Amino acid sequence: MTELNKIALKILENGKGILAADESTGTMTKRLQSVNVDSTPENRILFRETLFSSKEMSESIGGVILYDETIKQKTSDGKNIPQLLTEMGSITGIKVDTGAKSMAGSPNEKITEGLDGLRDRLKEYSKLGAKFTKWRGVYNISNNYPSKLSIHSNAHALARYAALVQECNMVPIVEPEVLMDGNHSADECFNKTSAVIKKCFEELNLHKVDFSGLILKPNMILAGSNSKNQISNEETAKLTIKCLKDSVPNEVPGIAFLSGGQTEIQATENLNLINKFNDTNFIMSYSYGRALQQSALKHWAKNINDINGTQTVFNHRAKMCSLAAKGNWSKELENQ
Ligand code: 13P
Repeated sequence: MTELNKIALKILENGKGILAADESTGTMTKRLQSVNVDSTPENRILFRETLFSSKEMSESIGGVILYDETIKQKTSDGKNIPQLLTEMGSITGIKVDTGAKSMAGSPNEKITEGLDGLRDRLKEYSKLGAKFTKWRGVYNISNNYPSKLSIHSNAHALARYAALVQECNMVPIVEPEVLMDGNHSADECFNKTSAVIKKCFEELNLHKVDFSGLILKPNMILAGSNSKNQISNEETAKLTIKCLKDSVPNEVPGIAFLSGGQTEIQATENLNLINKFNDTNFIMSYSYGRALQQSALKHWAKNINDINGTQTVFNHRAKMCSLAAKGNWSKELENQ
């Protein structure tokens, strides 16, 4: 077993998953403004420190993805954030892409930037304590999209990123996110997600990336959020497993889904069913941003000094996700 494979398993084993707290300052500002909290560096770290020091971290959160600002911030008692995470039993990760920008040649689609200077930034993050990284490619579905160009270019960038990360002895999270926005059918999501993931592995292979030392972070298979033909959670679970079985090489140790705009309960219930039906060797877990933080953020915004109350909300959500990652979640446990 390689060192990278061990790290990947440590992050995802035994019902653990990932807390994606790597919102860029722009995205975090939107999240804070939506609950009427000023987006200052102090407020951003206060919310995040509140979550990172919650009790459930040690049971349910194997890894936390940070943003550049956060990995360099300190807790209220002067501790480095990676040190806090280590004490809570969680591995430090870092988002290393610099965002998705309009693509020249297909301006309605996006290409993710951040390869220039990446090797040096990785060394810096590794010294700060990061053991894994994230890069997100983003694709939208409509009649002509995602285009061949978008599928190819984003896969190429993800593979170049992953190769550099493994060279620096860290585990890359490869995140090709096919967005749920639109009125497309679940079948279309299935076909397009399959094409996107297959292309990613073709490029990862070309760039000599060790599949056993990466984590795939895909979307689940859903009908577009504006589609009139929504499918059941059971169908989502079955189609998602089928898609991953067909497109992901067996050596990949784990899959950690993004929530992508699903509600907290929907993201939990779908993950639970995926694990109930899982007939693959892949660990199927979570790398949720909104679906782990939304309720906690709403609670915290009412009184940003209510650390205990906020942590109680977060502990519950993290516990429910962890139960779902083992196929042991139920509505009764959710409402207890
Ligand atoms: P969501 O779970 O809110 O989609 O965020 C996950 C993530 O890290 C997106 O890049």
